[in-house]
Amino acid sequence: MSQRDSFGSRFGILAAAVGSAVGLGNIWKFPYMAGENGGGAFLLIYFVCIVLLGVPLMTSEFVIGRRGQRNAFGSFKKLAQKSHWPLVGVMGVVAAFAILSFYSVVAGWTLEYIVATIGGSLAKIQQGQMGDYFANFIDNPVRIVLWQLVFMVLTALIVAGGVKKGIERYSKLLMPMLFLLLIVMGIRAILLPNSAEGLKFMFYPDFSKVSVKTVLFALGQAFFSLSLGMGTLITYASYFNKEENLARTALNVSIADTLVAILAGVVIFPAVFSFGIAPSSGPSLVFITLPEIFRQMPMGGCFQLLFFLLLAVAALTSTVSVLEVVVAYFSEEFNLPRKKATWIAAASISVVGVLAALSFGPLKDVSIFGKNIFDSLDFTASNVLLPLGGLLIVVFVAWFMKPTDVRSEITNNGKLKSRFYPIYRFVIKFVAPVAIATILVYSIFVGSLG
Ligand code: TRP
Repeated sequence: MSQRDSFGSRFGILAAAVGSAVGLGNIWKFPYMAGENGGGAFLLIYFVCIVLLGVPLMTSEFVIGRRGQRNAFGSFKKLAQKSHWPLVGVMGVVAAFAILSFYSVVAGWTLEYIVATIGGSLAKIQQGQMGDYFANFIDNPVRIVLWQLVFMVLTALIVAGGVKKGIERYSKLLMPMLFLLLIVMGIRAILLPNSAEGLKFMFYPDFSKVSVKTVLFALGQAFFSLSLGMGTLITYASYFNKEENLARTALNVSIADTLVAILAGVVIFPAVFSFGIAPSSGPSLVFITLPEIFRQMPMGGCFQLLFFLLLAVAALTSTVSVLEVVVAYFSEEFNLPRKKATWIAAASISVVGVLAALSFGPLKDVSIFGKNIFDSLDFTASNVLLPLGGLLIVVFVAWFMKPTDVRSEITNNGKLKSRFYPIYRFVIKFVAPVAIATILVYSIFVGSLG
């Protein structure tokens, strides 16, 4: 067995893990979800989910991956021989297929918008016509599929380069760029007239909009945003070195991810309010509302370009991490060379992906349990597979791994202090399983009710 690839530095680990976490979930999904679910009130529930469930679950994925030193399936196989636990890894691979196939569609849209901004065709659209432009675009199968495939190829090129020379190298380049873009955009947004209205909307808690569904959405969103529940972080942690402080890394990644989600809201809502547009306009917020706003802003074209670049960069480091789950699995469990595994994985995912892309156009009438293909993939992954995976992961670490093994991973063999260890243990043993299981049941129930 040849030496496994690994991350080269602490910054590289952080950049890659934050790169995985920060994505369309933060910039495209989070703001509209917060907008529709009571602003600050949603934020508050979201924070609780991150701290109480997100950080401990992320730490648990790190524990499995670094101890197992394999892909998600292989790590379970190594830690729990002759058991059914490796199936959690298989579920992760299935979830990776589902997530990448709808995610790459939206990621592809960002490329279209980048090109249309540079080419000037977006600038020519009359005020108020963005909605029609977007509707026409997503109804055009050729363009959507083309951009989706371009995005898959970009992802595969990075993954094929390996952990250190592909994933780590590009994350170290792209992540600082993303933060910079976000800060520039945030300052611009705050300087707009009336921006305080937007900030108030984002942060002022409106508890009248809170229901059971809000909690469901907040947890689903927290898992999705932190890349939890399908072995992405198990896979990444298998490339960590033995000195990495797992709990602290989980905390740092969660803080960075939450910061970006909030900053994205700080970019979007002041702009929305400043131009008097209704804040809760759903997923189209980014692709219709924002371009309308950029049009009315001085130097709007420039900021529009920056914004969609930001979105594309964020999406790319995330798709890389999802593809890596499948590639690590294919290459280690079926003994394929990395490059070959990458292209096989990317090609087979693209087949499902094309179906998701077409579900806005030619396949829009195909429905599974009342949802189109795109939404069913999103729902199955985000609301069923991720929470189920997350549940099984904490149960595995809390109840099946040897406590001394878990402790030794968290403390790096006793070298680190473990002040929070008893709390962590209590959370993964009792709090997290009960909370996630409850939400999972509700989620399937509420979801199937539409
Ligand atoms: N976290 C990313 C986002 O917010 C998406 C993502 C990457 C993901 N890897 C994942 C989601 C694994 C769930 C599981 O956009």
